Amino acid sequence: MFKTFVLTIGVLAVVLSSSWLAAQVRPGHPDRGEAIYREHCLRCHGRMGNGDGPDAHDLIVRPADFHAPRSRARSDFELLIAISNGVLFSPMHAWRGRLTDEEMMDVIEYIRALAPAMPHL
Ligand code: HEC
Repeated sequence: MFKTFVLTIGVLAVVLSSSWLAAQVRPGHPDRGEAIYREHCLRCHGRMGNGDGPDAHDLIVRPADFHAPRSRARSDFELLIAISNGVLFSPMHAWRGRLTDEEMMDVIEYIRALAPAMPHL
């Protein structure tokens, strides 16, 4: 009886602490992401991520405004796919090959710092 109790508490502790840990650990580094963003993304997406960079006005398809609910509702994974593969029929080209996976995660972290993700219900 006591053994089962200890085991249950033990398992609960592991489960709770691992999900707590998973919630704390973010995969990218926003500082490195900021440098990448300034070098490659700012000219279209703008200083604060509003989609109003210096090159934005020449584009028919406007760069995404990361503060818009549409972008904030996206998961990190959806942003990663857009950055990695590009967005079809838009000036947003694929960054795979030009940025490493790690750099893409860093830049996503910076985008999230500019415009926090909307909580998913
Ligand atoms: C030449 C201009 C340009 C550059 C440079 C650029 N983007 Fe984009 N980006 C766009 C456009 C245009 C879209 C598509 C907007 C749409 O689909 O309505 C877009 C879409 C995106 C999306 C999808 C957003 C969403 O809500 O679906 C992400 C994420 C993104 N860009 C990140 C980046 C990152 C990170 C960089 C730098 C590594 C970058 N972009 C560089 C123009 C650009």
